[in-house]
Amino acid sequence: MDLALTGRRALVTGGSKGIGLAVAEELAAEGADVAICARTASEVEAAAERLRRSGRTVHVQVADVTDAAQISDLLQHTVDALGGLDILVNNAGAAHPGNFESLSDEDWQDDLDVKLFSHVRCTRAALPHLRASAAARVININSVYARYPDPNFFATTVIRAACLNLSKALAREFAPDCILVNSVNIGFVVTPQWENIRRRRAPDSSADEFFAALAKDEVPLGRFGNVDEVSGIVTFLASDRASYLTGTSIDVAGGMGKYV
Ligand SMILES: NC(=O)c1ccc[n+]([C@@H]2O[C@H](COP(=O)([O-])OP(=O)(O)OC[C@H]3O[C@@H](n4cnc5c(N)ncnc54)[C@H](OP(=O)(O)O)[C@@H]3O)[C@@H](O)[C@H]2O)c1
Repeated sequence: MDLALTGRRALVTGGSKGIGLAVAEELAAEGADVAICARTASEVEAAAERLRRSGRTVHVQVADVTDAAQISDLLQHTVDALGGLDILVNNAGAAHPGNFESLSDEDWQDDLDVKLFSHVRCTRAALPHLRASAAARVININSVYARYPDPNFFATTVIRAACLNLSKALAREFAPDCILVNSVNIGFVVTPQWENIRRRRAPDSSADEFFAALAKDEVPLGRFGNVDEVSGIVTFLASDRASYLTGTSIDVAGGMGKYV
């Protein structure tokens, strides 16, 4: 399938590792010029080296998506480097595991800032550039917990539900401008984020044991996903083959999701 992404210009937030890096690499492999950001300079540089192997234009920037000024700066430099913007992938995120009683106000605020407000602010800053694009896309990386509660990820559950409705509402508001907005809801995908969770929750068990035990109880397909199982669907949504999809919410979750 020719996804016709050659020359499209994409920004992937949190693109230094995990799902974001896989998405940036697949977009570049399909011919897009790409920009990424994250907070850890060494990881941003390592990702830049991998992305430049594609031969496409690559812009990397150390930026924190919880900071409005850094977001403005990121968008400005991205557009300067790539010559515009067609695709925004709001991916940066971090989990604050915990149930209702264990989460502090600070945990809630951090989670709101990195998940909901980063989507709001990055999309707002990208909007004038997306309006100038002939094939504009916003793809919001979300969680299946947006659609059903998990008490162990209490803040994620509540805030991701808001992100899902943000995607849906933006799809309606931007439809007259032909800016397509979709949500990709992740279940369990092996990334550095999950490795951190394992270290906190089960420091004494191996990664294999921990992931297999979680998948057994939660995932009908019986395993964690891989990052390329997410990047494929995101790249498809970014392409012209998805030109009649907006306001859609797609679970990439091995059958997780106890809802119709
Ligand atoms: N993996 C899963 O099973 C899963 C499940 C549900 C949802 N998700 C969502 O999918 C997205 C990607 O997750 P992942 O598993 O790939 O995580 P990851 O491996 O931890 O990667 C997260 C990326 O986001 C960046 N990031 C985090 N906070 C940031 C900030 N404030 N500003 C800029 N960049 C930031 C990280 O770099 P720095 O830390 O250096 O900034 C990194 O590049 C997240 O939104 C996550 O919530 C993942």
